[in-house]
Amino acid sequence: MKALMKKLDRFFDHVFDEHKRKKKELSKDFVARDMVDLLLQLVDDPDLNVKLTYDHIRGLILDLITGGTNTSALTVEWAISELIKQPQLIGKATEELDRVTGRERWVEEKDIPQLPYLDEIMKETMRKHPIAPLLAPHLAMEDCKVAGHDIRKGTRVFVNTWSIGRDPFLWEQPEEIDVKGRSFELLPFGAGRRMCLGYILGLKMVQLSIANLLQAFNWKLPDDTKVEDLSMEEGSGISTPRKFPLVAVIEPRLLLHLYKI
Ligand code: HEM
Repeated sequence: MKALMKKLDRFFDHVFDEHKRKKKELSKDFVARDMVDLLLQLVDDPDLNVKLTYDHIRGLILDLITGGTNTSALTVEWAISELIKQPQLIGKATEELDRVTGRERWVEEKDIPQLPYLDEIMKETMRKHPIAPLLAPHLAMEDCKVAGHDIRKGTRVFVNTWSIGRDPFLWEQPEEIDVKGRSFELLPFGAGRRMCLGYILGLKMVQLSIANLLQAFNWKLPDDTKVEDLSMEEGSGISTPRKFPLVAVIEPRLLLHLYKI
């Protein structure tokens, strides 16, 4: 553990040095471009009520990495797996994408509100494959009553988000189902004070990634795999991964010059 922490510290020092070097190089033209830039600005700020140290920044960045990477990436992998299982859904989603963006440019964040079908795909993925089906363990700070049950102060509570939801096939207007902790039908990010604090970024990342992957590529399984053989088994972990990584064959669906960086 100690050796690992040393490695991680070296990594952080490298990241801090890189960011400081860029800031120095750009001098007056410097604008903060990412979270590390912003946090480094705060560490230098003498006017902050709560002083931010380099250790705080290391902790915050670790929170962002652990909370923000696997969660979004796994949700995207589950979404693509579900879509490959039901190719007619890919057809509907790409139809919507082509209608909104055309085939001459990449989908962007500003297009997302015009893509309701994509939103439904994301919500349905989050319902079928919640990244944290029991959320994180919570602790009752005081005696309370939840749905008629007495919960004693100090009780460790797991919220079973699956037992709360209704069958979404009964949803008449899926666009009204909210994933932001207001609609108890679906709580992929939890709700209330301990709700995921990265949910806005998470939603954007997941929507844009699925949109990009569908816009960019035709998806199919390798020739020797049948759709019904694609396993949807879950593995174990803090966030719920696929038991077997998705293996898929992709080919570009837009003009090749768009793929040049
Ligand atoms: C699809 C993406 C994501 C999903 C499904 C997700 C899900 C969750 C869930 C279920 C919790 C626990 C809520 C509870 O206990 O009630 C949580 C907590 C948290 N998430 Fe996310 N998350 C996602 C993306 C992100 C991102 C992008 C970040 C940061 C950049 C992030 C940072 C955090 C942090 C720091 C916590 C702990 C909050 C606390 O305990 O007060 N998450 N997330």
